[in-house]
Amino acid sequence: MLIHNLIVILMTNNKLHAINAHDLLVISGGGFSCESWLLGVETNNVRGWKTVPRGCESFVGQYMIGKRYGEDLAMVVGEAEKYARGLKLGGDGKEVWVFDVDDTALSNLPFYAHRGFGARAYNKSEFDVWVNKSRRPAVQQSLRLYKTLLSLGIKVMFLGTDFEHDRDIISANLRKVGYITWEKLLLRIPKVKLSTISFKSSERKKLQQEGYKIVGNIGDQWSDILGTPEGDRTFKLPNPMYYVN
Ligand SMILES: *[C@@H]1O[C@H](CO)[C@@H](O)[C@H](O)[C@H]1NC(C)=O
Ligand SMILES: *[C@@H]1O[C@H](CO)[C@@H](O)[C@H](O)[C@H]1NC(C)=O
Ligand SMILES: [Mg+2]
Repeated sequence: MLIHNLIVILMTNNKLHAINAHDLLVISGGGFSCESWLLGVETNNVRGWKTVPRGCESFVGQYMIGKRYGEDLAMVVGEAEKYARGLKLGGDGKEVWVFDVDDTALSNLPFYAHRGFGARAYNKSEFDVWVNKSRRPAVQQSLRLYKTLLSLGIKVMFLGTDFEHDRDIISANLRKVGYITWEKLLLRIPKVKLSTISFKSSERKKLQQEGYKIVGNIGDQWSDILGTPEGDRTFKLPNPMYYVN
């Protein structure tokens, strides 16, 4: 354990990252590892969590701000592009790909990077003000997938968990960072109380009923990609910042 600790500290010093070594390791005696937690989150084994576990805040920060998050995004997007390029399209322009908005198309990382990644990080009113400024950057890897799909002739649908009253703000933000066109931008109506899975799967069902073929579906939450119809293939982007039920 001691040697492992030293190696971690040396490696991180090398990269000039300040990190709590405990965050990377099984805390001695406690049997809890932030890496195992992250794996559990991404595989949908760890569900319903309200916040990053205490002691994993700097681990999550390191993951998100360091290289690894970007590499993990690129891995998913690489597979998605490979899959998309292999599709035989019908030529009727009915193939569509569903993109989630928050932390799939547009990044909330700057907000969390500023506030921190733990329980006290999230302040709803500050978050709303920030979203309203329409200055969220694109998740660059998703933007790359978006461009690839358009070049292949696959249409893009945005299906957000955000509300209708933010439509203009979100549209402006999407356009500003390079998502220049889309087939539909589907958002929630506050009065209709549905779980994310129910809302999103019912919207996808409507798309099918309108004659669209959902060839792909990408999101950073399992609730983006679970629920029938899911789409022919789903892609899960990493996100250990928060959990949407
Ligand atoms: C959230 O931020 C606002 C504006 O800065 C502040 O007035 C409010 O007290 C904060 N709420 C919490 C729960 O910290
Ligand atoms: C954000 O903008 C929407 C639409 O203009 C508005 O309804 C909402 O009150 C705004 N929220 C904040 C926190 O400014
Ligand atoms: Mg999302």
